[in-house]
Amino acid sequence: MFGSMRNMFTSDMAIDLGTANTLVYVQGKGVILNEPSVVAYTIKNGKKEVLAVGEDAKLMLGRTPGSIEAIRPMRDGVIADFVAAEEMIKHFIRKANARSKISKPRIIVCVPYGATPVEKRAIRESVLRAGARKAGLIAEPIAAAIGAGMPIADPTGSMVVDIGGGTTEVAVLSLGDIVYARSARVGGDQMDDALISYLKRHQNLLVGEATAERIKKAIGTAKMPVDGKGKAIKIRGRDLLNGVPKEIEITQAQVADALSESVQQIVEAVMTALESTPPDLAADIVDRGVMLTGGGALLGNLDLALREQTGLSISIAEDCLNCVALGTGKSLEYEKQLTHILDFEA
Ligand SMILES: Nc1ncnc2c1ncn2[C@@H]1O[C@H](COP(=O)(O)OP(=O)(O)OP(=O)(O)O)[C@@H](O)[C@H]1O
Ligand SMILES: [Mg+2]
Repeated sequence: MFGSMRNMFTSDMAIDLGTANTLVYVQGKGVILNEPSVVAYTIKNGKKEVLAVGEDAKLMLGRTPGSIEAIRPMRDGVIADFVAAEEMIKHFIRKANARSKISKPRIIVCVPYGATPVEKRAIRESVLRAGARKAGLIAEPIAAAIGAGMPIADPTGSMVVDIGGGTTEVAVLSLGDIVYARSARVGGDQMDDALISYLKRHQNLLVGEATAERIKKAIGTAKMPVDGKGKAIKIRGRDLLNGVPKEIEITQAQVADALSESVQQIVEAVMTALESTPPDLAADIVDRGVMLTGGGALLGNLDLALREQTGLSISIAEDCLNCVALGTGKSLEYEKQLTHILDFEA
C-alpha cells in the first residue's frame, strides 16, 4: 500500500549495466530501454564531445575516422572508462525518464558478484552523479535468477549461469542468498575474439568485431555438426597476404572449432560450481537442473553441449537477454524481503 503510493510520485529504475548491452527497467513499465553499451565522441581542437550513445554509437565501432572515437566503457563486467560510463548512464537515464523531470529516481544497479568495493563505489557514484536520488546495488546472479523466475527464496539449491558479453557468472542460490558464486572471464566478447584469431590463423583473413559477432549469431554452435561441416555463410574481410578485401565461406564446423575453448571454460565453471556446492544443495541442482541467462545462452547447442558434458539438465531462460534487468527491477518490489541483498548504503 505505502509502497505503491510512494511509487506514484517517484519512478524507481533498475539498470543492468552490461559489458555488451545496457538495459533500463522502470517500475510499472518493465524494460523500456535496451541499447549497446557504447559511447562515441568527436574530437574537436583536442576536446572530446559526446556524439552518440547506444545503438547509433555501436554502428560507429570499428568504422571511425580520426576525428571520432567510439568507446565501450564496460569491460569484463566492470567500468573500464569512468568518464564514458557516466556519460552513458546519464544519457540512458534521461532517455528513460524523459517525462518525469520533477523527481530524481531511486536507481538500483546490478554488479558482478566479484566486483571489488572500489568498483562498487565507482558504479554507485557514477549513478548518483548521473542524477539518481539514491543508488542501490544488487549482485548480478541474484538478479538473473529472479528475472528467470527461479524460486530463490526456497530452501533448495538453484544454479543460474549468466553468460554475458564480458563474463560468465555461475551461482548457487538458496534461501534468497548466494551460497556459491564465481565469475569467469569468458563470454560473448571472448568468443568474438576467438573467431577473429581463428580466421587470421586458418584463413589469413582479418575481420572486425562486428563481423565476428555476426558470424557467431548467424551460425555459432557449441557442438561439432554431425556431418562435419554444418551450415555455411559468406563473410568478407581483408586478405592478410596481399591486403585486399576478400570473401570466403565459413562453416559451422570451423566456428565450433574456434569457439570450443570458450565453451570448455563455461563447462568447467559449471563443474567447479557443482563440486564446490554443499552435497544437499548439489543434489537439488541435479534434480532441478541449471538455468542459463544472458545473451551467450543463445549460442547454438550450448545447452546440449553443457548437458552432455556435465550430465545436468539445462534450461534456457525465457527472454534471456532481459533476465538480469527484469530481476533487478523486480527486486525493488520485494525490497522488504531482500534487505539483506539490496545494498542502498553509501
Ligand atoms: N544468438 C546469439 N548467439 C550467440 N551469442 C549471442 C547471441 N545473441 C547475443 N549474443 C551475445 O550475447 C552477448 C550479450 O549478452 P548480454 O546482453 O547478456 O551481455 P551483458 O549483460 O552486456 O554482459 P555482462 O553481463 O558480461 O556485463 C554478446 O556478446 C552477444 O554477441
Ligand atoms: Mg549481463
